[in-house]
Amino acid sequence: MMKLFVSEGNPHCLKVLAALETAGVRCDVQVVSHEEKPVPFLSRPSLPALLLSNGQHLFSPNAICRYMFEVSGQECTELCNQWLEWEATDLQPALLQALHMAVLQGKASDVPKVLTVPLSYLDQNLNKAATPYLTGDVVSVADVVLWAALHPFLSESPLALGEHKSVRVWFDHVATSQSCVSAAQKVLQGKGLQAMKSFMQRQPAPQSSQCKGTQSCNSSPAEDDEGERAVSQEEMEAAALTWNKSLKDCPSTTDRLHPILPQEGRRNILLTSALPYVNNVPHLGNIIGCVLSADVFSRYGRLRGWNMLFVCGTDEYGTATENKAREEGLTPQQICDKYHTIHASIYKWFQVDFDFFGRTTTEKQTEIAQDIFWRLHKNGFLVEDTVEQLRCESCQRFLADRFVEGTCPHCNYPDARGDQCDKCGRLINAVELKAPHCKVCSQTPVIRSSKHLFLDLPKLEAQLEQWLEKSTSTGDWTSNAKQITRSWLRDGLKPRCITRDLQWGTPVPHPDFKEKVFYVWFDAPIGYVSITANYTDKWEKWWKNPDQVEMYNFMAKDNVPFHSVVFPCSLLGAQDNYTLVNHLIATEYLNYEDTKFSKSRGVGVFGDMAKDTGIPSDVWRFYLLYVRPEGQDSAFSWADMALKNNSELLNNLGNFINRGGMFVSKFFDGCVPAMELLQEDKKLLALVGWELQQYIQLMDKVKIRDALKHILNISRHGNQYIQVNEPWKKIKGGDEERQRAGTVTGVSVNMACLLSVMLLPYMPAVSQTIRDQLNAPLYCVNTMLQGTGVFACVLDVGHRIGTVSPLFQKLEVDQIEALKKRFGGQQPEDEPPKKKTASQSATSTPAPGDTGVEVTAANTRADPEKASQLTQAVAEQGEKVRALKAQKADKAVVTAEVAKLLDLKKQLALAEGKSPESAPTKGKKK
Ligand code: MF3
Ligand code: ZN
Repeated sequence: MMKLFVSEGNPHCLKVLAALETAGVRCDVQVVSHEEKPVPFLSRPSLPALLLSNGQHLFSPNAICRYMFEVSGQECTELCNQWLEWEATDLQPALLQALHMAVLQGKASDVPKVLTVPLSYLDQNLNKAATPYLTGDVVSVADVVLWAALHPFLSESPLALGEHKSVRVWFDHVATSQSCVSAAQKVLQGKGLQAMKSFMQRQPAPQSSQCKGTQSCNSSPAEDDEGERAVSQEEMEAAALTWNKSLKDCPSTTDRLHPILPQEGRRNILLTSALPYVNNVPHLGNIIGCVLSADVFSRYGRLRGWNMLFVCGTDEYGTATENKAREEGLTPQQICDKYHTIHASIYKWFQVDFDFFGRTTTEKQTEIAQDIFWRLHKNGFLVEDTVEQLRCESCQRFLADRFVEGTCPHCNYPDARGDQCDKCGRLINAVELKAPHCKVCSQTPVIRSSKHLFLDLPKLEAQLEQWLEKSTSTGDWTSNAKQITRSWLRDGLKPRCITRDLQWGTPVPHPDFKEKVFYVWFDAPIGYVSITANYTDKWEKWWKNPDQVEMYNFMAKDNVPFHSVVFPCSLLGAQDNYTLVNHLIATEYLNYEDTKFSKSRGVGVFGDMAKDTGIPSDVWRFYLLYVRPEGQDSAFSWADMALKNNSELLNNLGNFINRGGMFVSKFFDGCVPAMELLQEDKKLLALVGWELQQYIQLMDKVKIRDALKHILNISRHGNQYIQVNEPWKKIKGGDEERQRAGTVTGVSVNMACLLSVMLLPYMPAVSQTIRDQLNAPLYCVNTMLQGTGVFACVLDVGHRIGTVSPLFQKLEVDQIEALKKRFGGQQPEDEPPKKKTASQSATSTPAPGDTGVEVTAANTRADPEKASQLTQAVAEQGEKVRALKAQKADKAVVTAEVAKLLDLKKQLALAEGKSPESAPTKGKKK
């Protein structure tokens, strides 16, 4: 039988007991004292612990809880897992701090400050879910864990609760189960918070605030959950042995031959980042979502010695481009050329190191897309059907999905797009939209029919599922990617139309469809293939080689279904041994301050502006990666960026690296001194080795944001080490003390060297600068070639370092305030000029199909003068419409004039600095 070890007054034990009783699992419970070591091989007591019948132990409280539920037959759902993760990473640090204050410092009144953020988050989610429990109608392990975690505070008094009514209702609801209450009684003995005093006294003091990634956060990230890690004797000895390893003899991995092709016996990785739309300047959210994340992984993979090809390019076809061309008075090709260059230069500034950055409007694209098309045709995976299409008579064109909006037929969300609903995520055929309207002129479109070709997804479904099963179980798929894909399949696949009535696209080669082009979402992913083909003639070695090649696709989550369902089906149906996605890495969304990035409102920082801020590219990269929306949405915040720059980069990382180097220069004439390792040094080596190992484990799984925290932990350890050992004092002492100063200095510069390598994927320029300053040998980058990484002494005694100088600069409050003002909802002055001035469009009549409104342009700026002109124009046009209606004028005439009126109103909204999308032309949410 299983055996559970718990102790009184330990909040984690409250969780597991509550889970045990709720799940109703049979288990022997043993109450032990805090000091007892129930798990013999752990160097310190770790409670709770669960001894399984096979002799293994579980000691993460949440894992134990989950296990209890699983044993009782209640599987942990995805949502449930998300809550458990949130509890461990967000709630726990806050709770520990709150406990510390309430139990040890007698500052119970400060508790609400610490708990407000997590409680609000919980409250909002409970509100949204509108179910009695967190994940549905029955109590789940998530409810029990959160309930038990919060119990010490919420049961005592309404003190910590503030306004969080939904939390209260939920909390009381869970408490109606006697299991939870009786577990609490066992652990706390009715003594409330005070029962935990002895437990809390044994805990390391929490840092002042330990929240991660939230905007209000003003501290360094928590070290790992356990505070200072206990290091065993064996670990220290092992670390000291590793220290003496040589990295010199590792195979060199730095040279990149052209073309990079898969090689026998190596890990060959084809890495793609979603192809950005060419018709816009990407914002920070777009950049972190794909190209920057993929770049970090590609640089990391090279450090690991993997053979990688990283391709990307601009996604150039489609109506959006046609529209932009019309707007700017250029041809679509000219638009593509112009913006392709803009994109390339932005990514260059961000140091995104593609092996090839191509585009989709090439001959290779036509060739390969048409080949895949004919194969699908020949293999019977295309079906013909007559389609009803939306046509806007006032704009005189068929409405591409992106240009129609309406109410979602599935969930009734009023602002669904023509291809997908942002609320429920389901795909939509534009004609199914309820109450559709043209996004350009707001008129109701008419339905016209025309013959189209469809990819027969139902016929490919079984094959796809088989592939997905393998891919998701052997590869790394982010949980959102798996979830979105699963929900797609659950709804059952439907045939997808792959042709469109447009000009700007890859032509459909079939004689019956001469006038048509491929739908962009059929065509664009083929761009990955054709871009590779433009890079090398031997592209098939990557793309038709699934046994030798692993493919990673990076994207934001709205791109998932196209990469996990539609594109794989195209490739499977082509039956040409194509390489399919093995790892699908999708980010959540990055917000801007407390709102969304918006091109139309001009809110947020766009790629081309980042360099105008004077903040170095590496610092931008660092901050974007630090808040990478990994697992949940996150936000870019100026204040937080300044904070992280000043605390993490300047005070922590930069300070440590600089100190080591300065000591070598000042005290040892620029040469690394002899090092003689004591226990304390070995302990540090072990701690650093462990952080390196964590970093590698996380990076291997593409947890880029989490891995970064371990770099910062290393420099934190380093600063503490220097602080404790005070080499600047010891250098003035006797021989033994001078020797000590030497060891500490030598270990520190070697840590700096290791840090430079770990930083390389994130901050390539800073990494290079550090290595230059240390005059580090080239082979220092070999540290991650082997398994879990090697922290070895690469700057040996006598090594001469270069000139040391500070790596980072402080970001001042006024500088940040100025930037915030400049980018918050406004565009800088040097944006491309508007096509028309207000007075022009207010007085001239827009040509048919040219409404004068720039739906996607990023040039919105409140302009009072223009606004007043437009107010006048709106009034006049309103009069005109009323007059025409009164005269019972011809309907077409009235319609056209109404369209003009609406245009003017939109322009007015823009001139007033409001979102045109919020102009009151849309249905209201019920
Ligand atoms: N252009 C799309 C976007 O920015 C992404 C296309 S990815 C592709 O959302 F692979 F399909 F090209
Ligand atoms: Zn229209």
